[in-house]
Amino acid sequence: MDTDNKLFNVGVLLVATLVVAKLISALLIPRSGKRLPPVVRTWPVVGGLLRFLKGPMVMLREEYPKLGSVFTLNLLNKKITFFIGPEVSAHFFKASESDLSQQEVYQFNVPTFGPGVVFDVDYTIRQEQFRFFTEALRINKLKGYVNQMVMEAEDYFSKWGDSGEVDLKYELEHLTILTASRCLLGREVREKLFDDVSALFHDLDNGMLPISVIFPYLPIPAHHRRDKARKKLAEIFANIISSRKCAGKSEEDMLQCFIDSKYKNGRPTTEAEVTGLLIAALFAGQHTSSITSVWTGAYLLTNKKYLSAVSNEQKHLMEKHGNNVDHDVLSEMDVLYRSIKEALRLHPPLIMLLRSSHSDFSVKTRDGKEYDIPKGHIVATSPAFANRLPYIYQDPDQYDPDRFAVGREEDKVAGAFSYISFGGGRHGCLGEPFAYLQIKAIWTHLLRNFELELVSPFPEIDWNAMVVGVKGKVMVRYKRRQLSV
Ligand code: HEM
Repeated sequence: MDTDNKLFNVGVLLVATLVVAKLISALLIPRSGKRLPPVVRTWPVVGGLLRFLKGPMVMLREEYPKLGSVFTLNLLNKKITFFIGPEVSAHFFKASESDLSQQEVYQFNVPTFGPGVVFDVDYTIRQEQFRFFTEALRINKLKGYVNQMVMEAEDYFSKWGDSGEVDLKYELEHLTILTASRCLLGREVREKLFDDVSALFHDLDNGMLPISVIFPYLPIPAHHRRDKARKKLAEIFANIISSRKCAGKSEEDMLQCFIDSKYKNGRPTTEAEVTGLLIAALFAGQHTSSITSVWTGAYLLTNKKYLSAVSNEQKHLMEKHGNNVDHDVLSEMDVLYRSIKEALRLHPPLIMLLRSSHSDFSVKTRDGKEYDIPKGHIVATSPAFANRLPYIYQDPDQYDPDRFAVGREEDKVAGAFSYISFGGGRHGCLGEPFAYLQIKAIWTHLLRNFELELVSPFPEIDWNAMVVGVKGKVMVRYKRRQLSV
């Protein structure tokens, strides 16, 4: 009996201890002062994944009105916290790599870019490699690239007939890769190896699927082809680099800049690093630029007011400079610049930017709410969503390049990170001037030499692509004519 009583007492004590422990922890957690962001309501376990797979933009459109500018989605074992709008995304863009890093979230690029570069190296080396990019894209280099961009556009469009119908998406993709080959990969690739190299890049491209983001090394055929193509590209560039070195030849391209680059300790880049950096440049700039050229065209060809504004600007510059098109002439094209910038506001090809948080931090929303974001969260911001916020942009879904005109400058009204198509802050795009010059060179040629009409319906957005672009063909009827001054 005594033993039974003792057992009973021990049992009661155990249960009581558990209940008290639970109560204490429940009481203590709120007292720890953490003001966590609201959480997206989903089905347990896979609910978050399902919401995300339905399309992150759909989820943002549904949740932002309910939860506000900061909220968390439970995605399997990860927590993704979204920041929408310049007030809360400022820390995202400004934070140091030790607080918010790219390395983990962009790891899926490693098999494509290759070993020893960008997200495969620690931040100090990566910073040095980004310095190589900065140097390769300085204004004196850009001036040389522009001459090549103009030549490529002239050459490409000279192959069009006097009139006809083309898929503008296909045409501009092709021209962009030809131009990128010339300016970035170099003369040898452009003149002798273009077909081989572009086929290999095609395999690299097709090896980057949504599934690759989660499982970059999954043994699937697309990944095998990617790895084979990556190896072959390394061989091709090793040959080009060594023959340039042997011949003591120097060219005006990004390849040459990377060959000549040196780390702070004096070490020159290796052939493998040069190859990896070139692949990274092409991945950063190829689809993003060609997609933006297509959207710019689709909007201009369906907005007579802006089409005549950009045409008048061309006439004015032709009066001033004749047929000369160089870096400085392109830099005078403010109306065309705004027209591209506005297409990019509505359709930023990189719809979601990510970081991994390594320390706790707090954010304050526009309406004064404060949230604490614990370390370990993935943090995300969306250019595609933020660029259409109605409290920043008047009629945000309208194509209106003049919103960026001097005096209006809606992007500046709400602060530094309102317009984020090119990211900003610590990791802002290093290729932005290059991209604008390339798109301007294409449209300058088209506006001066052709009458164009969009004959297919206005394009839809292909949300399923890794770099979000235009769905289907964009059929355009053209007629050759000179823009009369
Ligand atoms: C319309 C064309 C382009 C768009 C929309 C674009 C967009 C972006 C965005 C949003 C980021 C920031 C990513 C982040 O914060 O996670 C970025 C970074 C970068 N972009 Fe671009 N990009 C374009 C063209 C280019 C071109 C042509 C190049 C090079 C030739 C380039 C090179 C880079 C590099 C090197 C970075 C990394 C910067 C860093 O992390 O410090 N981009 N780009």
